Amino acid sequence: MILLDGKKISQKIKINVKNNVNQLIKAKKRVPQLVVIIVGDDYASHIYVKNKIKACEECGIKGQVINFAETISQAEVIETIEKLNQNSTIDGILVQLPLAKHLNEFTILNKIAVNKDVDGLTSINAGKLLQGNNNAIVPCTVKGIIALLDAYNLSVRSKDIVIVNNSNIVGKPLAMLLSNLGATVTIANKMTNDLSLYLKTADIIVSAAGVHDLFDAKMVKEGVVIIDVAINTNKNQKLVGDVDFQAMKAKTKAITPVPGGVGPMTIAMLLENLMILYHQKSLITS
Ligand code: GUN
Repeated sequence: MILLDGKKISQKIKINVKNNVNQLIKAKKRVPQLVVIIVGDDYASHIYVKNKIKACEECGIKGQVINFAETISQAEVIETIEKLNQNSTIDGILVQLPLAKHLNEFTILNKIAVNKDVDGLTSINAGKLLQGNNNAIVPCTVKGIIALLDAYNLSVRSKDIVIVNNSNIVGKPLAMLLSNLGATVTIANKMTNDLSLYLKTADIIVSAAGVHDLFDAKMVKEGVVIIDVAINTNKNQKLVGDVDFQAMKAKTKAITPVPGGVGPMTIAMLLENLMILYHQKSLITS
């Protein structure tokens, strides 16, 4: 069994980003900058944002957080995004999800200028990915999963892959990217009628259902690769994924731990996306 060590792989990626930023500093170029907008005080979201900013700072990237109260109006959020779009010292804008119920996620995300869409969540980037355009900024979790498989030479070409998630941020863009790479993809979700029907033949399972123990080792085939994207807390307040790692690992060819699997890869890819946007921008302005 191979442990897909996202923590280790993400460290290597972060060192590359840091070297890249150091070169910019040596050349007296502007330092890249990320702005994260967060609405409300959801505890988990604040931890994610803190980790994103910490990773930026570790690499010499400027990270700024704009914290809005739960009651902020949609017009004020949009006005802020429009100002950030105009600010040439900012390379990436990330709106942390989920947003408060009265805010329209689709409208707000699509106010982000495409050349600052570091999360790849605007319709333009989603459409580029759908059409197989290499120019798309790919959502960080999706890009992180592919980079992790790549790091362990696990090819997706011609593989049967089941994704247990159909969100705009994970399931749908991941399905498009995997399909572009030659995989046969099934998009399931936590309400799928007979999940085992799909899981039992899958070469790779990507689970982001947010339900611990949604499926077990008996439901998957010997030698499966398990990518567990979810972060749940079990009854002992311990962080766990969708699968029972200990019970599942004996049956797998490779599996991600939770924590330390996809999570750190997502953050590393955020930094990579930011650097892509930075360099694209300096090509235009230099
Ligand atoms: N909420 C949970 N994960 C993410 C992410 O990767 N990006 C954004 N914008 N919000 C999230």
